[in-house]
Amino acid sequence: MEIKFLETNELKKKPEDESNLGFGTIFSDYMFLMRYTEGQGWHDAEIKKYEDFKVSPAATVFHYGQEVFEGLKAYRQVNGDIALFRAKDNFRRLNNSAKRLAMPQIDEEFAHRALRELVKIEQDWVPHEKGTSLYIRPNYMGMDPFIGVSAAKEYVFYIMTGPVGAYYAHGLAPVRILIEKEYVRAAKGGMGFAKTAGNYAASLIAGVEAHEKGCDQVLWLDAEERKYVEEVGSMNMMFVIDGKLVTPDLDGSILPGITRASVIAIARDMGITVEERRISIDEVIETAKSGAMSEAFGTGTAAVVSPVGEFVYGDETVTVSGGKMGKLALEFYDILTGIQYGEIKDRFGWTEKI
Ligand SMILES: Cc1ncc(COP(=O)(O)O)c(C=O)c1O
Repeated sequence: MEIKFLETNELKKKPEDESNLGFGTIFSDYMFLMRYTEGQGWHDAEIKKYEDFKVSPAATVFHYGQEVFEGLKAYRQVNGDIALFRAKDNFRRLNNSAKRLAMPQIDEEFAHRALRELVKIEQDWVPHEKGTSLYIRPNYMGMDPFIGVSAAKEYVFYIMTGPVGAYYAHGLAPVRILIEKEYVRAAKGGMGFAKTAGNYAASLIAGVEAHEKGCDQVLWLDAEERKYVEEVGSMNMMFVIDGKLVTPDLDGSILPGITRASVIAIARDMGITVEERRISIDEVIETAKSGAMSEAFGTGTAAVVSPVGEFVYGDETVTVSGGKMGKLALEFYDILTGIQYGEIKDRFGWTEKI
């Protein structure tokens, strides 16, 4: 399929202060968009001005949440090149999510090509300072103008981009995490492994309550027993216990994070033992108290690595790593960002130049 480029001369002013980009509020000039119609397949692929588009008030996505999305970044490397990080893995995950929501598969190679073309056009939007990047948000949703519970026959897939700074205002400073005892995010057999709007909608109330308690994020426990660690709001969880890297296994109710997979690969490469297994919250609290747990941190595209300084569990507050960033978390952060920004050699083949 051909990708039409509809050029606009109404270009926006790019932000001058790159130290203050924030996250998710500035959008670039163009977006990629294509549509799907049952019987016809994907059609009308175009890169066009980033602007509002018309959607029926009856659209499936508004009523039944048939939507999946992705999040990845383009980095300006130290020599000025622009690189994507594991973009193909994002499109594979998008298709896995789409399958769970009864949505047609996208052509991953085509979507990847469309992304490359979009980033090439928007290259001047990729900010320069380390820690900044061009955030990329592919989004895919059901559009039928029909109020009836069924999978849509019409869809739109689009990719929007925008320059971002650090995800957390306080950067690499350790975060305070509330262990959620009441609400759950996803149950086995549900949509936990899919990156879909409903999972985030289910999490918002806990986020509000966490903030009221002075916490930055929520740590979810499993839906059946409220006993085993799942993941954090927008990150997978990792612990260093007795020198081993321990992380919940991919059991269907957590998102298979691309940063998670990358940290596991780096750890194994460093000769660190990695255990992907169930971790009870009792083990977390006990090992944090005894000191057997030397570090706890989250991993995700937005924050890369985010150290946990404190867990709040009921009336108890437990400190990890003396409330400071751990040695391994910093090492993983340095290696990952070093690869992304082209400061160190990418022996894993994760980056691709635009
Ligand atoms: C719920 C959830 N878990 C984990 C992650 C981390 O995934 P990734 O490393 O692919 O960004 C994210 C971020 O996208 C997320 O939203």
